[in-house]
Amino acid sequence: MKPPINHSPIWQQLKTHQHTLATTHMRQLFAEDEQRFQHFSLESCGLLLDYSKHLITQETIKLLTDLAREAQLAEWIQRMYQGEKVNHTENRAALHIALRNRSQQPIMVDGKDVMPDVNAVLKKMRHFTESVRSGQWKGYTGKPIDTIVNIGIGGSDLGPAMVTRALRAYHHPRLNSHFISNVDATHWAEISVKLNPETTLFIVASKTFTTQETMLNANSARAWFVEKTGDESVIAKHFVAVSTAQEKVIEFGINPQEMFEFWDWVGGRYSLWSAIGLSTAIMIGMDNFESLLAGAHDMDQHFLTAPFEQNMPVLIGLIDVWYSNFFGEETRAVLPYDFSLELFPAYLQQLVMESLGKHVNRDGQMVEYTTCPIIWGAPGNNGQHAFYQLLHQGTHLVPCDFIIAIDSQHSLPNHQDAVLSNALAQAHSLMMGRTGQETALALSQAGLSQEALALQLPHRIYRGNQPSNTLIYQKLTPNVLGALIALYEHKTFVQSVIWNINPFDQWGVELGKEMASKLLPELHYPKPTQRHDSSTDGLLSYIKARRR
Ligand code: F6P
Repeated sequence: MKPPINHSPIWQQLKTHQHTLATTHMRQLFAEDEQRFQHFSLESCGLLLDYSKHLITQETIKLLTDLAREAQLAEWIQRMYQGEKVNHTENRAALHIALRNRSQQPIMVDGKDVMPDVNAVLKKMRHFTESVRSGQWKGYTGKPIDTIVNIGIGGSDLGPAMVTRALRAYHHPRLNSHFISNVDATHWAEISVKLNPETTLFIVASKTFTTQETMLNANSARAWFVEKTGDESVIAKHFVAVSTAQEKVIEFGINPQEMFEFWDWVGGRYSLWSAIGLSTAIMIGMDNFESLLAGAHDMDQHFLTAPFEQNMPVLIGLIDVWYSNFFGEETRAVLPYDFSLELFPAYLQQLVMESLGKHVNRDGQMVEYTTCPIIWGAPGNNGQHAFYQLLHQGTHLVPCDFIIAIDSQHSLPNHQDAVLSNALAQAHSLMMGRTGQETALALSQAGLSQEALALQLPHRIYRGNQPSNTLIYQKLTPNVLGALIALYEHKTFVQSVIWNINPFDQWGVELGKEMASKLLPELHYPKPTQRHDSSTDGLLSYIKARRR
């Protein structure tokens, strides 16, 4: 067994190197190198990455890429791409790259090329999406479908919901879509009032087809549909499934012909590229869906072939490790200056935190370093009027990702100028800050009295030195979005390799699920319960006494 990465000489060198930068201000780094933007930016797959606003030097990049070599990153990338069972606790490969493999090179799992199956499902999706979009697929009264409802949760909801939202400009004009995920009846009730059973298509999306929330919502949708139509035999026209579990789909009453398959080597949070993306594909059309896949494939190739020093996912992954393990970073903010990406932070929360929120390494030993930072965020302009105060003047180090579209999906006079100037101003101000001297000068030039100036001065200083990545693209096309998502998937993989953790399992979600199934029948026991801790027992009794 290899000693933990934090015992390696290169980790110690990074620690020493951190001391030299710990008290450095990024202003100084910019002052020392007029070409800093040119030295710390790169362009690939329709994205420009500016990583100059970080507490890094060329020496940092050298040490971090050495750390990646120490962790055998290149070997791990090969293992993942070659279909090895890198998800060792579930004995599975992690081959989301096969779902968007536009090169058609074979990709083997257990000695079998998976590409014919992947392509067969894409073909089936094309056939089905075209018949829904053209109006050829009819509901039980002969009317074309106009509403798609995806029922799923986690990876079977967040990915397709985010992409469908982001690509609204590409939607078929006759079609609407909804995503039902929450088990609170409010979610179903609020959406179902908008539905016409004659023209609605439900997609039950669940890898396992056992997830409590999804199955409850799917059963309620079916009961609603049968009640409205009075005819169970027409269900096949209005319900399709996306799953790996054919028997369970049949048990639910969906015809296997109306089932779109995927495979156990597709992780839930990596599944938007599979048939789990069916709702997206119907809304944007299969050509656009394949363009999304092609953008991701470009990023897959970049990740596989670019040297670490010019490799976007590698660089941003390593820089995140730099802050996590050497600067005590606890959180990261994701700030899209592109309203179409409003669901991107929520999607990334699952991708990153379900993948990296782990405390044991691949060998089952406690890690001796922090792993996943907490991911949060909101569209930039909204955030400015909510939480940016903390970014500018709080006490936390919060590295930020600014994600900026040069062109919006829509144009109105002056709007995009406001978006762009705000985005650049925030990244600049968070990095530069404003010193006491500069603040005093600004306040006196604004005509403040000496007394007011003395009072306000400490409150109006900005410490700056808040690091950020800036990602810029021309316009959010399916292709660019594919590359952007794949960038974050691979960044997450890079971090998992450095931390020697398995990013493809999610055992952490099981304990709560098990406990919920124990508590479920207890909600109906007539007597107060005394079985758990006094808090749970007390709350259960309180709820039971008040339930209608
Ligand atoms: O509970 C977590 C999880 O297993 C996620 O990883 C997954 O994306 C989600 O539940 C939904 O699972 P399924 O697609 O099997 O319904």
